[in-house]
Amino acid sequence: MNARLQTWLGDQIQTLREQNLYKVPKILESPAAGRVRMNGKEVVNLSSNNYLGLANHPKVRQAALESIEKWGVGAGAVRWIGGTMTVHQELEERLARFKHVEAVLVFTSGFTANSGCIPAVLTDRDVVISDELNHASIIDGVRLSPASYKKSEGWVYRHKDMEHLEEILRNAQSFEKRMIITDGVFSMDGDIAPLPDIVALAERYDAFVMVDDAHASGVLGKNGAGSTSHFDLYGRVDIQLGTLSKALGVVGGYIAGSAVLKDWLINRGRPYLFSTAHPPMVAAALIAALDVMETDPEPMRRLWDNTRWWKKALADSGFDTMGSETPITPVYFGDEKAAQDAERMLFDEGVYALSIVYPTVARGKARIRTMPSAAHSEEDLAFALEALKRVRDRLAVGV
Ligand SMILES: Cc1ncc(COP(=O)(O)O)c(C=O)c1O
Repeated sequence: MNARLQTWLGDQIQTLREQNLYKVPKILESPAAGRVRMNGKEVVNLSSNNYLGLANHPKVRQAALESIEKWGVGAGAVRWIGGTMTVHQELEERLARFKHVEAVLVFTSGFTANSGCIPAVLTDRDVVISDELNHASIIDGVRLSPASYKKSEGWVYRHKDMEHLEEILRNAQSFEKRMIITDGVFSMDGDIAPLPDIVALAERYDAFVMVDDAHASGVLGKNGAGSTSHFDLYGRVDIQLGTLSKALGVVGGYIAGSAVLKDWLINRGRPYLFSTAHPPMVAAALIAALDVMETDPEPMRRLWDNTRWWKKALADSGFDTMGSETPITPVYFGDEKAAQDAERMLFDEGVYALSIVYPTVARGKARIRTMPSAAHSEEDLAFALEALKRVRDRLAVGV
């Protein structure tokens, strides 16, 4: 390798290590589940987005296997070049019905759906107004657009602060289009965006709304149809992003909205235009996952039973879950080192949950991020709770 590049990479990695930002993924040696084998050890996994346990559901697996027999394993090309397979089309029709919208376009991930859609609908005469806690894929999508968006220029509102959003909207009236963009459920804090207020402000100030429902899909609303369904805002949210990688258990992302929006993204959504389509088995597995979500209320009921149990048990044991309203449940430690030590000690105790520290969250707001799911039994969660309590007690006496 070129010596300059080699040295530069080494220096960057050293800096990451010094800042405690260097990551080494653990090795998962079993399928996604409530209990998994990881780095040679059996642990309760509290760090997966497999909300409904669909990643290894027998009907979803079976659909993928049958699809391989019928279609093979690859799509062959970008959809507008190689042709769209009927299974891809069927998935989009199913998703559009599920979301009560005119049309859906699938991208290969939620990340590429954001980075494809956001710049495609904006010009340099527009402004994007963002919640300060929006996900990295929204931030990157916004940065790819020619619109005004910077915090330093006053276009980022304090988290869920509707007075601040209104003040910014008043200042933004000279732009041609105004886009308000928010997570539906915030991925680090697990709280829900005040979508009815955001939509009302958008209507008052002639803005349009895009909501990233990555963590609301399969979690909120009728059969898990997301935050628009949860708040009964059908027809009033202009663009919805969903992911197929979390509650639906497979991989992918989609944009749900009007037929003309889909038409435009087929022509101008760059990750759609220049990246090969999902393998057909992915689309087939997702159709089966939608079948389960639409016909079997049990996984969503278990997800929420477990979530309520977990939050109450944590609160009863004196833990602070930082205002979380959804399965994403941060457990407050405050101090960065305490949270990182807690992550290591928890793993030794047989529980996998990540510490989240500055700069991902504000300094002094370090936490262990836990995710109960339909795949956990009550015993799994009770085991994790006892481990958390022991770790807290040991940290309190400096062990
Ligand atoms: C809020 C949010 N949006 C988008 C994404 C990206 O979704 P995907 O994993 O499907 O690329 C994530 C994933 O972490 C997310 O949390």
